[in-house]
Amino acid sequence: MATPRSTTTTACFFFLLCLYSSFYPSTSAPLFPKSALPTKSGYLPVNPATGSAIFYAFYEAQAPTSPLSKTPLLIWLQGGPGCSSMIGNLFELGPWRVVPSHNKNAHNLSLDPNPGPWNRLFGLLFLDNPIGTGFSIAATPQEIPRDQHSVAKHLFAAITGFTSLDPLFKDRPIYITGESYAGKYVPAIGYYILNKNPKLPVSQRVNLAGVAIGDGLTDPVTQVATHADSVYYSGLINERQKRELEEAQREAVEFVKIGNWSEATNARNKVLRMVENMTGLATLYDFTKKKPYQTSFATRFLNIPEVKRALGVNESMVFEECGDVVGEALHSDVMKSVKYMVELLVKKSKVLLYQGLYDLRDGVVSTEAWVKTMKWEGIEKFMTADRVIWEVNGEVAGYLQKWGSLTNVVVSGAGHLLPADQPLNSQAMIEDWVLEKGQFGRKQAGSSSKFRATL
Ligand SMILES: *[C@@H]1O[C@H](CO)[C@@H](O)[C@H](O)[C@H]1NC(C)=O
Ligand SMILES: *[C@@H]1O[C@H](CO)[C@@H](O)[C@H](O)[C@H]1NC(C)=O
Ligand SMILES: *[C@@H]1O[C@H](CO)[C@@H](O)[C@H](O)[C@H]1NC(C)=O
Ligand SMILES: *[C@@H]1O[C@H](CO)[C@@H](O)[C@H](O)[C@H]1NC(C)=O
Repeated sequence: MATPRSTTTTACFFFLLCLYSSFYPSTSAPLFPKSALPTKSGYLPVNPATGSAIFYAFYEAQAPTSPLSKTPLLIWLQGGPGCSSMIGNLFELGPWRVVPSHNKNAHNLSLDPNPGPWNRLFGLLFLDNPIGTGFSIAATPQEIPRDQHSVAKHLFAAITGFTSLDPLFKDRPIYITGESYAGKYVPAIGYYILNKNPKLPVSQRVNLAGVAIGDGLTDPVTQVATHADSVYYSGLINERQKRELEEAQREAVEFVKIGNWSEATNARNKVLRMVENMTGLATLYDFTKKKPYQTSFATRFLNIPEVKRALGVNESMVFEECGDVVGEALHSDVMKSVKYMVELLVKKSKVLLYQGLYDLRDGVVSTEAWVKTMKWEGIEKFMTADRVIWEVNGEVAGYLQKWGSLTNVVVSGAGHLLPADQPLNSQAMIEDWVLEKGQFGRKQAGSSSKFRATL
């Protein structure tokens, strides 16, 4: 899907290149070196009749420990709704990150290797989901999904489209991962696959092996009711403010109860704005940060024509980190729960939940609140399992709780965009969970003497 260039553009491009190299003599480095390009990128049709398509960027495993045809494949979905997975790619867990670099080139941006990319041992596929997000194409606004079933249908088309691109992709175990509002997308596509597979010939099934949700919004009606406690017990507000927040939270819950979904979303947004106002924090994504996450470099990078060309994107597309059109389309979906989908996934697959310890939006307290209400025969055992200290290279990396197919990890030193804060530990987490190694092994955590129970 490379964009053909006219000769005039080519000439102009080279002319500019010459111009740049005369301004930035020996220091001028290519903005997007070949070594940093995705293994494959382009478009996966979701509706060939209209041209709507999901943009993807795929990075093959750097150091696979099995033949590629058997090497696990991770799929990453960003949240929002309407935020691009290219932020996950170039700011969080992809093999290269966009960093400011003065005078290296005209854009003052360059790509640095990520010390903890998630494609070390596994293939890694970023999807701009739903259509209308990032570089994905929504042929008409009406085609943009307004509920999770439609999101899942498109994702299923994209995933099967991807696995049929290369025989090497056909049978690889697939793990669907994602963050934040993808706490809804991830269960939705997982659930869709579980229901769809039995109706398909074996050759057309998706080889789902597990799902992982980071700092997710999954059961919003339960989660919205936790902010007051979470910030009060973090010492960020007083008791009177806690009561005010509880009142606002109750409003959100009431709107859910009467099924006024749009107002429920507005009420949740109000709760979050109140927390922002009361605490004055730079970002609720991480209460220790003095500045919001600096994702703007990646956004600027993705808007450079040379970069779009390299990725196979039409240069006329404007890249937005998070787009309002998709945000609007899914506005009434935000407060709808997908907990029942996780309940099926935990029975038929395996589930990892993980949260950054500093996240005040969809963090630890918010997650535990809904997890403990899950209808699943293992939930009691899970809730009473030891929460063990999780160590990476002899240091505390966080806390791990596991029973059967459900694992929850709290990651120290991290906020909402967790892989950006803890590249190496997040890599160790995803690798050990997929491969069931170390403290993520098949044995129940706490059953070996090497595990230390927390007090
Ligand atoms: C790029 O997008 C523009 C505007 O939508 C369109 O006119 C043009 O045909 C597209 N180019 C290609 C190669 O698809
Ligand atoms: C790059 O940095 C130089 C020197 O600091 C500055 O003059 C220039 O405007 C910057 N370019 C961009 C695109 O930000
Ligand atoms: C939701 O509540 C708002 C505010 O009370 C009201 O204006 C709106 O009509 C309600 N919508 C529905 C679908 O009930
Ligand atoms: C937050 O503060 C701003 C500025 O003081 C104010 O306009 C806004 O109404 C406040 N929002 C809430 C939800 O309290």
